[in-house]
Amino acid sequence: MDRKKIKLNIDNIKPFIDQKSLDALTPEIIAADEKIKKGTGKGANFLGWLHLPSRTDKKLISDINNIAGEVRKNKSILLCIGIGGSYLGSRAGIEFLSPLFSNKRGIGGEGVFFCGNNLNSDYIEDLLGSLEKDADIYVNVISKSGTTIEPALAFRLVYDYMRKRYDKKELTKRVICTTDKEKGALKKMASQQGFRTFVIPDDVGGRFSVLTPVGLFPMACAGVNIEELLNGAADLEQDVSKEKIETIDAYKYAAVRNALYRQGKHIEILSDFHPSLHSVLEWCKQLLAESEGKEGKGIFPSIADFTTDLHAIGQLIQQGARNIFETFVIMQASGKKAQIPQLEEDIDQLNYLAGKTLDYVDSMAYRGTVQAHTTGGVPNMTLQIPERSAYCLGQIYYFFEISVAVSGYLLGINPFDQPGVEAYKNNMYKLLNKPR
Ligand code: PA5
Repeated sequence: MDRKKIKLNIDNIKPFIDQKSLDALTPEIIAADEKIKKGTGKGANFLGWLHLPSRTDKKLISDINNIAGEVRKNKSILLCIGIGGSYLGSRAGIEFLSPLFSNKRGIGGEGVFFCGNNLNSDYIEDLLGSLEKDADIYVNVISKSGTTIEPALAFRLVYDYMRKRYDKKELTKRVICTTDKEKGALKKMASQQGFRTFVIPDDVGGRFSVLTPVGLFPMACAGVNIEELLNGAADLEQDVSKEKIETIDAYKYAAVRNALYRQGKHIEILSDFHPSLHSVLEWCKQLLAESEGKEGKGIFPSIADFTTDLHAIGQLIQQGARNIFETFVIMQASGKKAQIPQLEEDIDQLNYLAGKTLDYVDSMAYRGTVQAHTTGGVPNMTLQIPERSAYCLGQIYYFFEISVAVSGYLLGINPFDQPGVEAYKNNMYKLLNKPR
């Protein structure tokens, strides 16, 4: 069966980079590809994500679906506790696939609420306060290290709330921990209390863990078809293993970004024209920034939601400092068709658009923006997403993961660590008088 594939279009790069400079990068791309496939590059002990799509155990998928089924049965609310790579991927997936105004963020109306991604009293108090008294609650606390302070404190507060609502047996059934197989405070607590657990593999780092139970379980609870998601990622995994290096879109994306970086374009704007893509771009932003930004190097990723942001940062993109490039992430087909009505009196003079859909106007806004930014000196490319499906979402995840691995090696850094994240933590712990 011919499946709908995401596609990268780099035609608009031509005025800014000639083919020769891109071709000149091919030996470096080949070397990066070899490092990834042979596991000979920096951080090679964190390459477990590479074959997750094709090698995820069927038993694990069925365990995830079974517990998710239990959560979904009573239309329970899932409180999903995690930060960084431990929540951005599942939030992206759920928001990409759910109806936009389902407050309870689930495809079938079930609720998945995220917390533990900040240290804000209003956030957690308002969240717990908003839960209806008779709502059925489950908790998924996710932390690879099992020691991160934001989710750990959120869990303590949520646990205290749950204790007041459920007896010990019910409470134990309702907490599912996703963490390391043996290390960390969360694992210890899960074993002591008898909470059910999912394991994050040792060789998969946080921001590459969306296709482990970290992402799969919350998404399954929201009704995402996780087999389809993995199928989408697996098809890209297969392309990467079989296709010629020069034809792999994710590698082209890495090459173009790197060529632009070498020209002094140090800021990438990831732009969407569809609200369901916002959180997907948030996930990309973290993956790209935490993987590349080290040793004084890296492209600074930022996000723009268009057309909204054309009325905010559009001016800067068009005429500000020329140190930026842009990656449009475009949804090709909307499920709905909001048709512009004909008004006999034409009070707003918009009858020239009557009969057209809003998406048609949006697509012209996209084309107009591409032209404007190209002539304004902003190199740009477009990742085309055929539809809002789990299959396409799986491809998006794998596309950015493999691409940033290549790109990290092109920069000469380890794309799989994040030593800089410790700096704020160490200062904060000192200020909090954390016992050693
Ligand atoms: O990508 C990463 O490694 C980080 O963003 C982590 O996911 C984040 O810091 C949370 O870590 P942990 O899952 O250990 O709580």
